[in-house]
Amino acid sequence: MSKVTVVGAGAVGATCANVMACREVASEVVLIDIKEGLSEGKMLDMYQCATLMDFDTKLVGATNDYKKTANSDVVVITSGIPRKPGMTREELIGTNANIMKSVIENVVKYSPRAIILVVANPMDTLTYLALKASGLPKNRVIGMGGALDSARFKCYLAKATGANINNVDGMVIGGHGDTTMIPLLSKATVNGVPVAQFASKKKLQEAAANTMVGGATLTKLIGTSAWYAPGAAASMMVESILHDQKKIVPCCCYLEGEYGQNDICIGVPAVIGRKGIEKIVEIDLTKEEAARFEESAAAVRKTNQVLHEIKAL
Ligand code: LAC
Repeated sequence: MSKVTVVGAGAVGATCANVMACREVASEVVLIDIKEGLSEGKMLDMYQCATLMDFDTKLVGATNDYKKTANSDVVVITSGIPRKPGMTREELIGTNANIMKSVIENVVKYSPRAIILVVANPMDTLTYLALKASGLPKNRVIGMGGALDSARFKCYLAKATGANINNVDGMVIGGHGDTTMIPLLSKATVNGVPVAQFASKKKLQEAAANTMVGGATLTKLIGTSAWYAPGAAASMMVESILHDQKKIVPCCCYLEGEYGQNDICIGVPAVIGRKGIEKIVEIDLTKEEAARFEESAAAVRKTNQVLHEIKAL
């Protein structure tokens, strides 16, 4: 028996719930939202797919009723406003930090043993806020960004190299921001062979640049923030937790000395299993990548500082 709550029945939250149901990641998925009827409606719609998609996950919708979320093993937090075209993720902080604080209070009250997965933006800073506001140990508060950014990186690398997308491997570390994320070209491979063997330097650099604005490109095309890949990335992480898969996932972790950083939540590769963040994996970075990681951390800290200014911390 395992139970997952998704907070926020917007496009990302509902997609995450849908992917988890279709993959039977948990025995029960609860979707909760403040908007009357929204989560109940979406979960009923999804449950009507059960015989079509061959799943029997219990699906529950809840309007603001955290009792229904009680004793969740994992809580995915997607609630907050999404960005509009031209906005950065960082601009969302005022509204979304306040939402995060009230959500965390309820999550800790009703699911004291849960592992928290933060999806809402600005993701690195909201993960930091969730950790501090919840008082949970650092292994139980994780941010999703790097998993999504790495999936986008692999998509653009597949396009650049012409390789089968499932043969492509690569990761993105650093902050989940248009200028703070760091696609690691030096580590990217096609089935273990360095990508440099399959595409020119220029094409690979374009793939990295496209990855960094991957979310912004979609926001411009769609008019609001993306949801298919964000929802699927969150589901993949929940699966690695609940099924104790111990996948190495680039994701937002609290650092205490790793990568030369302290008291910050930022994207690094980590082993994700039943205990949440089970190990932070320290990899060798090139000089340039290491310098970019420092810059990225400085930018994330600047946004974290806003939490004090708006008295969220
Ligand atoms: C994105 C949002 C979810 O990158 O941060 O699409």
